[in-house]
Amino acid sequence: MGVKKTLKKIWDKFTSSDRILVTGGLGYIGSHTVVELMEAGYDVYVVDNLSNSNIEVLNGIEAITGKRPVFENIDCTDYVAMDKFFTKYEGFKAVIHFAAYKAVGESVSKPLRYYRNNILSLINVLELMPIHQTEGIVFSSSCTVYGQPDKLPVDEKSPIKDALSPYGYTKQVCERIIMDTVHASEDMNAVILRYFNPIGAHPTASIGELPNGVPNNLVPFVCQTVSGVHKKLSVFGNDYNTPDGTCIRDYINVVDLAKAHVKAIERLFDGKMKKPEIYNIGTGKGASVMEVIKTFEAVSGKRVPYEVVGRREGDIERVWANPALANKKLNWQAETSFEETLLSAWRWQEVVNKRTK
Ligand code: NAD
Ligand code: WQD
Repeated sequence: MGVKKTLKKIWDKFTSSDRILVTGGLGYIGSHTVVELMEAGYDVYVVDNLSNSNIEVLNGIEAITGKRPVFENIDCTDYVAMDKFFTKYEGFKAVIHFAAYKAVGESVSKPLRYYRNNILSLINVLELMPIHQTEGIVFSSSCTVYGQPDKLPVDEKSPIKDALSPYGYTKQVCERIIMDTVHASEDMNAVILRYFNPIGAHPTASIGELPNGVPNNLVPFVCQTVSGVHKKLSVFGNDYNTPDGTCIRDYINVVDLAKAHVKAIERLFDGKMKKPEIYNIGTGKGASVMEVIKTFEAVSGKRVPYEVVGRREGDIERVWANPALANKKLNWQAETSFEETLLSAWRWQEVVNKRTK
């Protein structure tokens, strides 16, 4: 290595303490987190293989922050390419690891695709971190690890239930892999965030969710239905043991969720963490499918055509978070109202509709 290159590396090392690697950073939650990190002053580097995202998301990030993060199209399952990236930009303070496949139904029909992508990506990141002196990781887990909890609201001590899908199992396995790896290392630490149901979009409508094909999730399906992409929404069951018979979830605004990652990075380096910490990221309130429909109609002024059909296999009846631990230790809380959040989803859909006209 030439003298210039060596000096640059040493220089980078001393000046890059706020350098964060975001894997899957052009995806739905990743892109909103990149924005919040940049706005908090972090130097953000993104790898994404664009398997479920679009390069144009970079324009949206730039429209909001006035800057573009460093981006490379890399598959996290490619150890050599990831090692090159870590070497090229030596000195990441932490990694936020979003990169994964997330379609629950597809994971049932293609389990190995999910096990390979979600688990191997994480293993590569964890193996490369100590080689490149990166000490902290924030990992995207899910409330899916709780299944149908025995007690509500569900807190982090609630038992992990048998996974209902290979996707859900990858989250359980990844959490365990992180725990074991950090336990065996003196220098690494981790924050695991269990997201409840992220919805909505950035208030500028410059970035949002871009589902590939027919969305499985409720809110994107509602937005597309109102836009005429689908004739009607199927409400999966109204015979549950809930006040209106439809399932209840804890819908968390995606910008609030993104902000939790900034807090998690701060937590990793506040000098108080002894071992990995796990946090629920939710609002603490549940809303039923019918409440989502009615609130969406009220804020958008549009009618949501829907029909009640049979239950969807694998759906749990109700779940919402106890987010007290994140409120206290991360100094984080959900701030955006349900109404504002649903309106942001609709505003984003209107932008998408214009683009696809
Ligand atoms: P997303 O699909 O929008 O984003 C994931 C990003 O990772 C995409 O841009 C995709 O192209 C990229 N990616 C996938 N595999 C990759 C690989 N091998 N190498 C590089 N890039 C890769 O999903 P999202 O909703 O933003 O979810 C982000 C994370 O949060 C995922 O780990 C997901 O499992 C988790 N999560 C999501 C939800 C949710 O409802 N959206 C809930 C709980 C947890
Ligand atoms: C919400 C409610 C449906 C679509 C999934 C994953 C979970 C996590 C979040 C990643 C349910 C109902 C839905 C429709 C409907 N992701 N619904 N008609 O199932 O809570 O969670 O996303 O970790 O792991 O499983 O979210 O948005 O699919 O459903 O009636 O067309 O809306 O039955 O009650 P879910 P969802």
